[in-house]
Amino acid sequence: MATGNLHKYREARQVLSELGIDLRHLRVDRVEIQADDLADIAAYSAEQVAAEGRPIVVEDAGLFIDHYGGFPGPYSSYALSTIGLGGVLKLMEGVKDRGASFQSVVAFRHGGEARCFRGVVRGRIAHGIRGTSGFGYDPIFIPDEGDGRTFGEMTAEEKNALSHRARAFRSFGEWFAASE
Ligand code: IMP
Repeated sequence: MATGNLHKYREARQVLSELGIDLRHLRVDRVEIQADDLADIAAYSAEQVAAEGRPIVVEDAGLFIDHYGGFPGPYSSYALSTIGLGGVLKLMEGVKDRGASFQSVVAFRHGGEARCFRGVVRGRIAHGIRGTSGFGYDPIFIPDEGDGRTFGEMTAEEKNALSHRARAFRSFGEWFAASE
């Protein structure tokens, strides 16, 4: 898995190990284009990585806020590094509909074209920053299928039972296990 984000690698590794797949980390500098579709970003990145004949996965994710038509979505990294969690919470002040989804696309490539697998988790934006686990937007995202805690308040196992990334990697892993 080519990524500069070890949190992502650990989450993905856990999911795939349950399917008997051994995932290794390939440290890369970010090779990311800006595009409106996560699949375009992930597939392009997978095609850029010098995998030297090995099978490779790249994952791209984003937080899509309903009230803002899916913003920041593919621009989630930029939003986090500019306005931060506090800025996102400020955008939500007075907003009734706090619904949001996390989406993830895993792009797999072993020569040829990349193949993409998606995962989604529905939830809502919390009223404050809660929890110190995970990374990124985890402390402000409450999954609908949980018990009211944010991802930031969950253990890695609890997040992996519900998360967009775990779903995308499970879908990839089931296909990979069946096709190898
Ligand atoms: P990217 O997939 O690395 O481009 O992620 C885009 C942005 O969303 C980054 O700021 C990440 O920190 C954030 N992000 C991606 N996945 C997650 C997640 O599982 N939880 C919280 N934030 C995430």
